[in-house]
Amino acid sequence: MLRSLFAALRIRLVMLGEAGSALGVLVPRGLRAWRGGDLAALFATAETQRHVFALLRAIWPNLVLSRRLIAAYDNTGTAIVTRQTDVTEVLEREADFAVVYEPRMRAITDGESFFLGMQDSAAYARDVSLMRLAVRRDDVAQRVVPTVAARAGTIVVAAPGRLDVPAELALPVLAHLVATYFGTPGPTQRDLAEGTTLMFWWLFADLGADKAVTRRALAAASATRSWLDAAIADRKATPTEADDVLNRCLALQRAGTPGMDDLGIRNNLIGLLIGLVPTLSKASVLALAQLLDRPEALAGAHAAARKGDDAVLAAHLFEALRFDPVNPIIYRRAVNDTEIARGTLRARRIPAGTMVLAANLSAMFDPLAVEAPERFRSDRPWRDYMLWGYGMHACFGAHINRAVIPQMLKPLLALPGLRRAEGAAGQVDGGGSPFPQHFTVTWDV
Ligand code: HEM
Repeated sequence: MLRSLFAALRIRLVMLGEAGSALGVLVPRGLRAWRGGDLAALFATAETQRHVFALLRAIWPNLVLSRRLIAAYDNTGTAIVTRQTDVTEVLEREADFAVVYEPRMRAITDGESFFLGMQDSAAYARDVSLMRLAVRRDDVAQRVVPTVAARAGTIVVAAPGRLDVPAELALPVLAHLVATYFGTPGPTQRDLAEGTTLMFWWLFADLGADKAVTRRALAAASATRSWLDAAIADRKATPTEADDVLNRCLALQRAGTPGMDDLGIRNNLIGLLIGLVPTLSKASVLALAQLLDRPEALAGAHAAARKGDDAVLAAHLFEALRFDPVNPIIYRRAVNDTEIARGTLRARRIPAGTMVLAANLSAMFDPLAVEAPERFRSDRPWRDYMLWGYGMHACFGAHINRAVIPQMLKPLLALPGLRRAEGAAGQVDGGGSPFPQHFTVTWDV
């Protein structure tokens, strides 16, 4: 009992210490950003976000504001939830904290919602189940890993000592996966990448409801609907024996399965492609960038890649991604007036309509749940990670992600002297979007 009391006090002192150092970093940076008139840019980096969350976790773990921070979806105010136990509570209480994406999902399909935009319902269960029949867990080892490993290996072997990771490795590998495993090659690799990226941006990252992003995402949605409709019609007109996702959907259609008419197939495929292409590309770049800044961790990943030890390689990459995940927050809207962290000193009332930002980045750095969270460690239990959601809507592609990211980066990480290219080319460049477009690395030849 006494030992537990001391341990609890020690962790809280650590949290207060982290909050103090966070203030020391944030105040001068905030003043500089304020003078430069660009406060939003301050929060664009994961490193600053981690400081903000350290402060909140210690002082205001559940901060409720009457101010709306997100304009893309209707809401009446904002709550920021930062401790791991409260983040999981929000994402587990699906009936009280609902997904908000439905209106934009419907605009993208020009009709029905996609299952990430649905609450627990018969339609949700049907669509997830159908897509699990088409995109099977066995495929990860049997289809996805060999496809990605072979294509990534070929690209790296042919590279002349430098490679632009998103443009020359991630997108070609993912476009090849979409063409061969899904059976739906885009019109061009570039159209596939740009279209899915714009739609993802609009659905999940356009927090300020930017008019230009809306216009471009709706144009991309219309083009994507057209080429997927054509791909489905072509396949029906000229059937193939390929064992791919599209043929599995069409087999379900022939069996009279509800939800698998042409529109149902197309809408589900749009949702999966939006989930797959920009995310896996961005995650690979972010994980690699974090590793390249940590010589010891990079050496560990390099040794694992050379030995072909996929588990150790993956442990390094997912630990790297913990420091800069693709989604640092997951947002939900309170359906009714409710309360979180009930019975604790940090309990807060959440009015109906509040946008609740469940900070998964913060959860992965919460010392109350994660041991020595500030340290880079490749021996963490998988439960410490919340890299792609939690609860009912946790990522459909979770097992694909765990396989694809290491397989895509393995040939690169096996190279000697891997490092960022000199100058601007070696910095992650989003080209005005929140998605890496260019990031060049080089190695010893
Ligand atoms: C590293 C890559 C990925 C990241 C970071 C990622 C991130 C996420 C996150 C954060 C969620 C939860 C969203 C929420 O609760 O509001 C989610 C759900 C989802 N993801 Fe992923 N994702 C990735 C890859 C994929 C892939 C490869 C696919 C398709 C094969 C995919 C399809 C989906 C779908 C369909 C959902 C909705 C699940 C449901 O509603 O039950 N994602 N993803």
